[in-house]
Amino acid sequence: MRLQKYLAKCGVASRRKSEELIRLGEVTVNNIIIKEMGHIIEPSVDIITVNGEKIDLVEEKIYIVLHKPKGYITTVSDQFDRKKVIDLIDLDERIFPVGRLDYDTSGLLVLTNDGELTYTLTHPKHKVEKTYIAIIKGVPTEKELKLFVEGLHVEDYVTSPAKIRIIESFDNKSTVEIKISEGRNRQVRKMCHAINHPVIELKRIATGKLILGNLIEGNWRYLSQGEIKQLTKR
Ligand code: URA
Repeated sequence: MRLQKYLAKCGVASRRKSEELIRLGEVTVNNIIIKEMGHIIEPSVDIITVNGEKIDLVEEKIYIVLHKPKGYITTVSDQFDRKKVIDLIDLDERIFPVGRLDYDTSGLLVLTNDGELTYTLTHPKHKVEKTYIAIIKGVPTEKELKLFVEGLHVEDYVTSPAKIRIIESFDNKSTVEIKISEGRNRQVRKMCHAINHPVIELKRIATGKLILGNLIEGNWRYLSQGEIKQLTKR
């Protein structure tokens, strides 16, 4: 990376002002004053100072929300070479999905390079509520809905209290809103299966207070400062 670009990236000054600092002999690379413009440095190896003070590159944090379509995987690699959500995002920076959504699930997916946020949103102790809209087979009875709320035996565990409400029922199918605060593998599908109303379609519409809104499927946007603050607050 060019020295003046590096200084600007580190927030020392604008690119032009950084060039001036170099011209004035205020910048050293590995203890040598560099006055020539366009000097190439290796940020992870070289030691840069401005007026004697060491400069470090603080990685810019990126937070985005993607409307994941069905037919994409959220992992970074896949043995079956299926399409990856990361391919929908045209950014140079390396960012990672926060948690996962199944291949067949659509909806809200946060991606970031902020490990702290990933931890906050995925660690069970933080109980971040995720909201889903599901189309399920049949029409659940009051008793079945109650089971959902009380906790269900799924494989070798019992689910924490969840919320479920029927939005509408037709053609022996129901559209339901489901809220869970855990994030176990295929949990919503397994819970619906456990009450004998398997999932036909599944979409996540919110993570905590962050909502998908009218973001078009396959599109992504940066989170606002307010949304980042809200998500990182614990
Ligand atoms: N629960 C599921 O079953 N699938 C998802 O993708 C997310 C939650």
